[in-house]
Amino acid sequence: MMAGRIAVVGAGTMGCGIAQAALGTGYEVTLIVHSEKGVNEARERIATGFEKAIAKGAMTSEKKEECMKRLKISWDIKDVNGAEIIIEAVPEEPNTKKDVLSSIGRSAGQNAIIATNTSSISIAALSPSVGNPGRFLGMHFFNPVPVMKLVELVRGKETSDAAMDIAKAFASGMGKVAVEVKDSPGFVSNRILMVFINEAITALEEGISGREAIDTIAKLGFNHPMGPLELADYIGLDVCRDIMESIYEQTGDAKFKPAKLLVDMVGMGNLGRKSGKGFYEYKPR
Ligand code: 3HC
Repeated sequence: MMAGRIAVVGAGTMGCGIAQAALGTGYEVTLIVHSEKGVNEARERIATGFEKAIAKGAMTSEKKEECMKRLKISWDIKDVNGAEIIIEAVPEEPNTKKDVLSSIGRSAGQNAIIATNTSSISIAALSPSVGNPGRFLGMHFFNPVPVMKLVELVRGKETSDAAMDIAKAFASGMGKVAVEVKDSPGFVSNRILMVFINEAITALEEGISGREAIDTIAKLGFNHPMGPLELADYIGLDVCRDIMESIYEQTGDAKFKPAKLLVDMVGMGNLGRKSGKGFYEYKPR
């Protein structure tokens, strides 16, 4: 199966997840890591993702080997050249994203479309860095990418219909549902989710109920797979705080101000699953 070539820039949780999902669909994937040291780590991370799919019976070992052969990892951003779709998935820091997007814009082939996986920064703020804003849009994936069905497609003011169509076809080819939204801080997903999570943290802070009780209410009352505190730990408390601060800065709306407890926990280094402690305790990975 040959579906074409894409590139993903950034090999964190989201970048590796996007790479895994695209490999599983038949794409050749070039994954750009930060430095030579990151190559093995990224390869292992993606292989571990495939192992989880195998453990669930969603994939065979033969298919995994075949997928891994289509993965090329490089630390030279110029290697995005030749990809039809390039997805930026570096940390949610505006200047970092702008720098990376301008390098992508310089290296990409003329017909390539460029997407950012930003979770909160407006497309309008990032678009000037790309050079040709017509081919630029937001493709907001959800963690864990190989499992989650949604891709929030963010149309910037200058995004062309052709770029939107290519991104939609790419998402649906991966078995995902693409939902188009207008450009706005936090888009639709995080302006809903972060207020929900923040309110749960505030209820905990005010002693309205305990952590298990709050999460049980969402799990049994709303059929959510995880409660909001468990989900915040899963996303990363630092990521939640950063998204909220970013939306708050862009809108000035107090409902997006991160709860004091969240800010304090991040300050103490309690970042959720990745640090071993958040609202719950976790075994080191
Ligand atoms: N490829 C890779 N990993 C896979 C996989 C696959 N095909 N299938 C399953 N997995 C992973 C699961 O993620 C899980 O990982 P973990 O060990 O890190 O928890 C593990 O394999 C076990 O999978 P199961 O399906 O058996 O586990 P569960 O039934 O407990 O489901 C879950 C895990 C899918 C994470 C589920 O709890 C869930 O859907 N939670 C909610 C997730 C969610 O809301 N995500 C969105 C977050 S918001 C976001 O990403 C936007 C950002 O901007 C903040």
